[in-house]
Amino acid sequence: MRYPAGWLDDLRARADIVSIVSEYVPLKQKGRSFWGLCPFHGEKTASFKVDPERGFYYCFGCKAGGNVFDFIMAMERMEFREAVRYLADKLHMPVPEETDGAADAQRRTLRESILRLNREAALLYHKLLYAPEGRHALEYLHGRGLDDRVIRLFGLGASGEQWDTLTRTLREQGADDALLVQAGLTVRKQERAFDMFRNRAMFPIIDARGNVLGFGGRALGDVQPKYLNTADTPAFNKRWNVYAANLLRKCRNLARVLLVEGYMDVVSLVSCGVEGVAATLGTSLTPEQAKLLSRYAPEIWVAYDGDAAGQNAILRALDIFEEAQIPVRVLVIPDGQDPDEFIRAQGKEAFEALKPLSAAAYRMARAKDGLDLSEEEGRTKYAMACAAILRGVKQPVEQENLLKRLMVETGYSREVLVQQIGLSSAARPAGRTRQAAVRPPERFEPQGRLRAERTLLELLCFGFVPEGTLSADTFSDEDHRFLAQELLHGRKPEELLLSLEDGPRRSLLLEAMANEPKVVNDEALRMIAECVETLRRDWIEKRIASLQANMSGASSEEKDVALREIMKLTNEKKSLGPGRKE
Ligand code: GTP
Ligand code: MN
Repeated sequence: MRYPAGWLDDLRARADIVSIVSEYVPLKQKGRSFWGLCPFHGEKTASFKVDPERGFYYCFGCKAGGNVFDFIMAMERMEFREAVRYLADKLHMPVPEETDGAADAQRRTLRESILRLNREAALLYHKLLYAPEGRHALEYLHGRGLDDRVIRLFGLGASGEQWDTLTRTLREQGADDALLVQAGLTVRKQERAFDMFRNRAMFPIIDARGNVLGFGGRALGDVQPKYLNTADTPAFNKRWNVYAANLLRKCRNLARVLLVEGYMDVVSLVSCGVEGVAATLGTSLTPEQAKLLSRYAPEIWVAYDGDAAGQNAILRALDIFEEAQIPVRVLVIPDGQDPDEFIRAQGKEAFEALKPLSAAAYRMARAKDGLDLSEEEGRTKYAMACAAILRGVKQPVEQENLLKRLMVETGYSREVLVQQIGLSSAARPAGRTRQAAVRPPERFEPQGRLRAERTLLELLCFGFVPEGTLSADTFSDEDHRFLAQELLHGRKPEELLLSLEDGPRRSLLLEAMANEPKVVNDEALRMIAECVETLRRDWIEKRIASLQANMSGASSEEKDVALREIMKLTNEKKSLGPGRKE
């Protein structure tokens, strides 16, 4: 569904980009624009510019840029619609798609009511942890090495030992029984209402926007079930959420997200100083969760438990990440431990020293399970399993490394293994590719023709090109020509930006919009003329070169025509001014 015409523009216009960006980055005014340290890459001198008039930002260092929606999407790791809603909420503008449809509105209020209840419940659980009723839970958490700082960070709590502490308290605050049941906080048995969670350490599940979606409750001893999780509710769908998304959101420039199995693993790793950790919600990984995680870092490291169940779950997780074309690696926790046990026993340094395996290397290691490589039969089975794995490896270097290992392990020759892999056949599945979440900065400095074309684009962006002085055909680069065409037709650059998807055209436009040309008085016309001269000279030189190249093998008549054109062009070149010097 699209937003009504004009509504988005209205929102964009009302969202003051300087004050929005200032919430994240201190800005200083210089002339008409504002400058600060780029939040998207580490830097010591300010190359991050915010242009309030045109409503966009641009970093001259890492070339990140866009309008206010792009900024929120990047900082808050939101999808476009989420960013729109986020800004609309901030500015108290009703989002039109939400106001139509009574069923939608009803669902929304139900969701919001449940979220409100959950928040109250989380506050109460946290309070109980430090009350006599929560004494055992607090001892339990302390006993597992968690201090009060981490307890607060995760909002951990205690559900009381009585049957209905939460239900009673929330009822007193006016909560409706039916809603408490729908939120999964209360269960009704024979006309009586009990708390869903009793005598457990409580882990609130909080999404990236700070909503309390539900809870995981850990038994304090050897009680079954060990963990009790809120079932899906109108406000909570496990498929679409992960544990600790609220903390993940706050991490900047993460190199990887660490995906673990349990709530305790997350809490424990974070409490030991490991950043960027998340867990699924007691179910196996879904494609939706994989995609959600991929927003926070360029790759995911799966660090499931070292036991057999965990190791098998890794293989399934790898399939899901690879299916979604998300770069993934595996961190194997030694000795069958889970990450919590490992880091408690070995410390943070030992944990961080663990080296992740590529997906293929991990699969190869697993292919050994149950095979005896000292027997020929084992080696054969292993070689065949690995050949199938290597067939899917797209990086030649990685494939080579693994192939060498396979030669050593099995004693088969390269030739045989290569044949087995079917490398020589074209039947290899197409390699997976994916754009890294963080683009490396473009290091290329345009000169000559390209520089002149960019200067013209800059002049166009800033309205320095009078009508009729320039034609889009002057541009030889196709992307430049496209942008020039649009701008010459009177399209405002900031509007054009909205319509462009990520890609070279968008980057070029952003760069042009950010580079205000230094034009004094009526210098613009001279600058335009110089650029056009540079372009013409470049064109002439190329034309002459191609004429000369075609000369050999041409008839004398053709040579004559070519020579005459070359002479004419040479004269024109002499008559041209010096062109634009940068
Ligand atoms: P600790 O024993 O507290 O260290 O927990 P753990 O994180 O090591 O738990 P484990 O590896 O056994 O389980 C991983 C995750 O699976 C937990 O965080 C829960 O989300 C889920 N889980 C574990 N046990 C149960 C259970 O009995 N019922 C349900 N529904 N989920 C469970
Ligand atoms: Mn554990």
